[in-house]
Amino acid sequence: MNLNERVEAVEAEIAAAQGGGAEAAEAFRIAMLGRNGKVTALLEELKQVPPEEKRLWGQRMNQLKNAARTRWEELKAAAGAAAGTSAGPAVDRTRPALTGPAGSLHPISLVRQRIIHVFERIGYTVSQGPEVEDDRHNFGALNFPPDHPARDMQDTFFVEGPGGMALRTHTSSVQVRVMESGKPPIRTISPGRVYRNEAISARAHCMFHQVEGLYVDKGVSFAELKGTLHHFAKSLFGPEVKIRMRPSYFPFTEPSAEVDMSCTICGGKGCAVCKHSGWVEIMGCGMVDPAVLTNCGIDPEAFSGFAFGMGVERIAQLLYRVPDLRLYWENDVRFLEQFSDGAFRA
Ligand code: PHE
Repeated sequence: MNLNERVEAVEAEIAAAQGGGAEAAEAFRIAMLGRNGKVTALLEELKQVPPEEKRLWGQRMNQLKNAARTRWEELKAAAGAAAGTSAGPAVDRTRPALTGPAGSLHPISLVRQRIIHVFERIGYTVSQGPEVEDDRHNFGALNFPPDHPARDMQDTFFVEGPGGMALRTHTSSVQVRVMESGKPPIRTISPGRVYRNEAISARAHCMFHQVEGLYVDKGVSFAELKGTLHHFAKSLFGPEVKIRMRPSYFPFTEPSAEVDMSCTICGGKGCAVCKHSGWVEIMGCGMVDPAVLTNCGIDPEAFSGFAFGMGVERIAQLLYRVPDLRLYWENDVRFLEQFSDGAFRA
């Protein structure tokens, strides 16, 4: 066999070497790369090749040596994986990985996302505005005249300084901003934090979350308002849910209504949550008062609109049967953990 044939034979042997534990890997190393190994012997022969062929053979021999080393590493790795690390105990590579405790979204975030999702799917955009508002956006443009008793409906936190600034009492303020800066058709919801100076109890808090909605276009009707809200209630609470509207009053809508939903806890038969009436209140709504449209630069002769507003805590309470509003703020992990199953993730 000439040199070339012998190199090829050793190459073939390297490629064919089979793993068989740490000992077989070591035997392979000795047989190939040891002092009397086959690769070592071939490397020795490099001395005898004619000078003009040295470069070529040098490269060839290097490749051979590297191939033997790589194969040895592979055999060692395979032996180690099969037997665990050589030093430590066997490792079960099929065992599920240990993961840290996963956090979860707050129930209010989950429900807010779900509400937004329902309206986004029927073409509503999401708009935001400041939490510290001026009098005009929170009250004036919404048809609350100065000193009008309707302002007492929403106990306001005022902020010291010029301009009648206050913490917004509802996100209707955002809708004023949207109407001022855009043209109909407008279809938007405004989720956000709102503030009212109320004593904290199981049923009230001085800060809560709202999602308010606004639709302004040519010929928007009360029937569409009812259809939209029924669609919303069914999307969140299931196809069986019924809604009803009771006449109410808001300065910025005319006519105005409170929306009740058939009690999802007892199915309408009567229970403690619905105070045995079979109905629970979920939001306020109405047709945007023409004066509000005018205040915001929209011609009420050409356009009409509807608006609605709901509390996210209230919707979450009905979805998850949360008995006390204060639980949302205490950050007790035993409470928060219960919403981590992803069932309500949008
Ligand atoms: N802004 C009202 C509130 O905070 C809710 C509402 C919005 C009512 C839109 C009617 C229309 O109570």
